[in-house]
Amino acid sequence: MKILVTEKIATKGIDAMLQSGAIVDEMVGINREHLLEIIAEYDALVVRSVTKVDEELYERAGNLKVVGRAGNGIDNIEIEGATKRGIIVVNTPDANSVSAAEMSIGLLLASCRNITQADALLRSKVWDRKGFKGIELNGKTVGIVGLGRIGSLVATRLQAFGMKTIAYDPYITDERFKKFGVEKKEILEDLVRESDFITLHTPKTEETFGMIGEEAFRIAKKGIVVVNCARGGIVDEDALVKAIEDGTVAYAGIDVLVQEPNTTSPLLELKNVVNTPHLGADTVEAQDNVGITIAEEVISALRGEMVPNA
Ligand code: MLT
Repeated sequence: MKILVTEKIATKGIDAMLQSGAIVDEMVGINREHLLEIIAEYDALVVRSVTKVDEELYERAGNLKVVGRAGNGIDNIEIEGATKRGIIVVNTPDANSVSAAEMSIGLLLASCRNITQADALLRSKVWDRKGFKGIELNGKTVGIVGLGRIGSLVATRLQAFGMKTIAYDPYITDERFKKFGVEKKEILEDLVRESDFITLHTPKTEETFGMIGEEAFRIAKKGIVVVNCARGGIVDEDALVKAIEDGTVAYAGIDVLVQEPNTTSPLLELKNVVNTPHLGADTVEAQDNVGITIAEEVISALRGEMVPNA
């Protein structure tokens, strides 16, 4: 069994693959042309969010049997192309949910309390206690778009801050809303109108791409806070920039962008935005979990055994 790993995964995951007797080539950051040249040698490919696993790659991947997505979202993997070739795609939907939820809350707090901006100013030797007045979470309403694994963790944690939690998720049962003490909004517009904070926890699909855009900002409360730790583009970036400039959005915490890596987004220029480079799943615990889980799944799939997240 030959496995190619193109993005950084935890050593524990690599060790688990090696222990199974597989040959593992770690080529973190391999360029596209090189990947296309060598992919035919491999039975399995393990990626995170950067490597595009698409038709062009499948066409060159005559031996590929398994694609392992070390993480939750599978928007960089063309499922149809895999299915029609009998290639199994596995991911690790549970392994990093807590980290993503904690990061979302971190961004929410950091943005509405100006934490990174104040830190940067103090590091430039300016002690300024006047310019950073923030807002409290207590008593406010947070609108959670997507009440799945991560959204529900965010909800219960923000309730501990004294927030009212409302959510929009047409795919989730009423029981689940009740279980997490979250008020259900049947339509997104109602959630947007009532929220002081909006946090996104949906996958990137045709349905969710741009779902928080110009129209949402037109009806949102003035001074709303927006956090996107899900996928770039679920919040329309141009519309967000405009909404920040005209004061509709007071603060934003952004971990993901449509184009990644990205060092030129206009969002990086705005002082009331906390930007991070797709770090939602980057904790020791999540990466160990993800690494071990993906290793087990890929090996099981290669052996023709049942795989939980296929
Ligand atoms: C995920 O979808 O779980 C994350 O994007 C994983 C990652 O950071 O690569």
